[in-house]
Amino acid sequence: MSYFCAFTLAILIFTATFAASIPVLPTIKVLTGPNCHMCEIMLNNVRYEYHNNFKDVTVTQLRHSLYEQCDLNFNGFTDQECHRIVDQDAADILPQLQNNTSSYRICQNEKFCC
Ligand SMILES: *[C@@H]1O[C@H](CO)[C@@H](O)[C@H](O)[C@H]1NC(C)=O
Ligand SMILES: *[C@@H]1O[C@H](CO)[C@@H](O)[C@H](O)[C@H]1NC(C)=O
Ligand SMILES: *[C@@H]1O[C@H](CO)[C@@H](O)[C@H](O)[C@H]1NC(C)=O
Repeated sequence: MSYFCAFTLAILIFTATFAASIPVLPTIKVLTGPNCHMCEIMLNNVRYEYHNNFKDVTVTQLRHSLYEQCDLNFNGFTDQECHRIVDQDAADILPQLQNNTSSYRICQNEKFCC
């Protein structure tokens, strides 16, 4: 199980525990679908911001753009997790944006899509 799948599962168990109900775990596909899609949306928003031209973009710039995407799309604990993932992955994502790797493919490479 990839990192992000495990993360999603952890959130789900956490949520289920505090809802004081018996956790019924859906399949991996159901769990990871939304994060896979969210990853693509975030990357596509960043592409739009930079007009898909990452030639002179630095890792620091990309990291800050992705932080903004985290803040727009998540709250609280999941927003913090999003920032942490950005710290981990920004340097790896930049060259892929620079060589026109598709958003879906990048999200697969970064384990958002299982
Ligand atoms: C991309 O941006 C650089 C400067 O950051 C510029 O020199 C170059 O012409 C741009 N390329 C395109 C295709 O717009
Ligand atoms: C794009 O860059 C990434 C990271 O450096 C590399 O893994 C990938 O093979 C490259 N893809 C192409 C089509 O050049
Ligand atoms: C990526 O696409 C842009 C715009 O279509 C193009 O100018 C650039 O040369 C491409 N870069 C690579 C590494 O294929």
